Amino acid sequence: MASITFITPSGATRTVERKDGSLMEAAVQNGVEGIDADCGGVCSCATCHIHVEPEWVDRVGPPGSAERALLELQDVTNERSRLACQVRINDALDGLVVRVAAR
Ligand code: FES
Repeated sequence: MASITFITPSGATRTVERKDGSLMEAAVQNGVEGIDADCGGVCSCATCHIHVEPEWVDRVGPPGSAERALLELQDVTNERSRLACQVRINDALDGLVVRVAAR
């Protein structure tokens, strides 16, 4: 089980508990503001863009090539950007904090 905290663009925080699935699924199923997931998680919309808090970047890992290509088209991409649908939840991510990217 992992506890994941989302910080929305408006500054609200939402902590959810999940044992598997993706960060996007955890956000959508818990009504996290700003995660629209228009493509349903197939890495083609970037409406699940997040910024991983610095202390978690190494544990979350880097984006894959398709994910990176999509992120490069976004306005607010930085070195901590990920698409939430491409991050799988596991016990090692217990305590993870991510910020929903502003659009
Ligand atoms: S849900 Fe569309 S890219 Fe993540």
